[in-house]
Amino acid sequence: MRGLWGAWSVAALVWLAPAHALAGPYLGASACETCHPRQAKAQAASAHARALSRPADHRLSGVFGEARELRREPGYTFRVGLGDGRLRVEASDGERTRRLVADWAFGAGEQAVTFVGRLDEEWYLEHHFSYYSATGAYGPTPGHQMLRADDLGQAVGVQYRTFSPQTEIMTCFRCHTTGPLALGEGYSIEPSELGVRCEACHGPGQAHVEAVGKGSVEAARKAIDNPARLSPTELLATCGACHRPPASETAEIDYRDPWNVRHQPLYLARSACFLGGGLTCMSCHDPHASVDHDAKAYDGLCRGCHNQAEAPPSAVCASTEGAACSSCHMPKTQPQPELTFTNHWIGVFEPGSLVPRR
Ligand code: HEC
Ligand code: HEC
Ligand code: HEC
Ligand code: HEC
Ligand code: HEC
Ligand code: HEC
Ligand code: HEC
Repeated sequence: MRGLWGAWSVAALVWLAPAHALAGPYLGASACETCHPRQAKAQAASAHARALSRPADHRLSGVFGEARELRREPGYTFRVGLGDGRLRVEASDGERTRRLVADWAFGAGEQAVTFVGRLDEEWYLEHHFSYYSATGAYGPTPGHQMLRADDLGQAVGVQYRTFSPQTEIMTCFRCHTTGPLALGEGYSIEPSELGVRCEACHGPGQAHVEAVGKGSVEAARKAIDNPARLSPTELLATCGACHRPPASETAEIDYRDPWNVRHQPLYLARSACFLGGGLTCMSCHDPHASVDHDAKAYDGLCRGCHNQAEAPPSAVCASTEGAACSSCHMPKTQPQPELTFTNHWIGVFEPGSLVPRR
């Protein structure tokens, strides 16, 4: 039994292992600030940087601080709130009460925050209640709706072994933190840096900083990964290390499953604009900032390629009706009412379909 956030996490381990050819210690984002203030300032405020935090340090800690009463069928009651910096959960089936703490808040809160805590030396718990920004309310963590709650132990959430062959709970930390994971007292998982920070994408930075110190700019450039040097296909794999890489032709993937739309590289890799035009994630997103939610902001880029009277690529669309290009050609989908994802398989869609018309 498992939730949905880490639904392809087994593959993720394989993909994350070779992500950086560079060796050497990680320094943390604070070591990059002095020389790269522009990237550092933007990145610190991004959803990437806030992908994992302590509940009390979260941007929504004020909300988590208010004690709330919640229910789970059939007949469980929960009390959720902050105490001593941790999320405290009191769950009862009417007879027995379990008191649990969560030390970790996964998700910047752009859409959702899921709480994770260590139960004992063997187990971690993904808590049943996540916080959803769209509704301003707690609701079942993705995937948990489908699971039974025959007793209080099942009602509080989904348990993961710290050391299962798939090490599923470790993968949550791998994708939401930067640098190596260590084990603390009682086999607690201890990340080196919270959130997706500089060295998650650029690789460990010590050799780079040392080379700068020696005055060797060329050596410094070589000692750090710059994704700008990668081809569009390599870039999809780089971002795909966490967002899920494109699938091989033979892989069986249901592109009509709205949960898969959440994996943007998988979909973008199939779109004619990528195949014929070599789009990358950076064509539309600043890797150091959060998503721009102004749908019109992307139109200029579309027009930049679709600007000729005759194909290819096709001329500016006759059907725009003054609306943003992405509103029709990258439609939104909701795998559950509180979550919205954007279809990155750019194309012409029949209403409600997730696979473009061919
Ligand atoms: C002491 C100053 C200094 C520090 C600290 C520093 N850098 Fe740099 N960085 C430079 C210089 C100088 C260059 C080369 C000139 C340029 O591209 O601006 C550079 C270039 C880069 C580049 C572009 C490489 C390329 O191919 O052109 C990246 C990426 C980068 N740094 C990332 C980082 C990261 C990540 C950290 C923190 C781990 C960091 N830097 C810390 C000075 C520094
Ligand atoms: C180490 C894992 C990792 C890598 C590598 C990674 N991401 Fe992410 N990305 C995440 C996580 C985790 C989130 C969710 C942040 C949150 O909690 O909202 C995210 C969120 C995003 C978002 C949404 C931000 C928002 O404002 O809601 C964009 C856009 C994005 N990533 C683009 C990229 C691009 C482009 C690359 C490659 C250059 C990339 N990511 C590489 C882990 C990663
Ligand atoms: C393979 C990498 C990977 C693994 C493993 C992973 N995540 Fe994530 N997570 C992401 C990325 C990328 C995003 C942002 C885009 C998205 O939602 O797909 C994200 C987003 C989230 C969000 C925020 C959703 C939002 O948009 O606000 C939560 C909460 C979350 N993950 C929790 C977890 C938990 C809990 C686990 C472990 C059970 C986990 N994740 C495992 C990569 C990963
Ligand atoms: C999600 C992945 C990701 C993270 C996290 C990230 N970067 Fe980058 N960075 C990139 C990509 C991709 C490029 C290439 C940009 C391009 O092609 O336009 C880049 C480029 C750069 C450059 C070269 C100059 C430029 O802006 O193009 C520097 C310097 C840099 N990053 C520093 C940093 C620092 C410092 C941090 C942390 C505060 C950081 N990056 C965090 C992905 C990332
Ligand atoms: C052609 C432009 C374009 C490209 C290329 C692109 N995106 Fe997006 N992306 C968008 C738009 C538009 C949105 C929705 C913005 C909004 O309205 O909130 C979005 C939203 C997102 C989100 C937020 C969650 C969601 O699904 O709405 C993530 C994460 C993301 N993109 C990651 C990526 C990654 C990773 C890549 C590279 C594989 C990529 N994007 C390439 C245009 C693009
Ligand atoms: C880098 C250039 C480039 C950019 C940027 C670009 N496209 Fe495309 N697009 C292409 C190419 C090449 C094709 C395939 C040839 C054709 O259909 O004309 C294509 C095809 C399409 C198609 C037809 C899809 C199909 O399956 O036949 C649509 C619709 C489309 N693009 C819309 C968009 C929208 C909307 C944007 C902005 C979000 C965009 N494009 C950005 C190059 C680009
Ligand atoms: C109101 C919805 C809507 C908006 C907004 C819209 N389109 Fe379209 N677009 C369509 C439809 C529907 C078609 C298919 C028309 C047909 O086949 O008769 C289409 C066709 C296309 C095609 C040609 C696909 C092909 O293979 O012939 C391209 C390219 C395209 N649009 C680009 C754009 C761009 C760029 C924008 C923004 C400037 C845009 N569209 C805005 C609905 C829209």
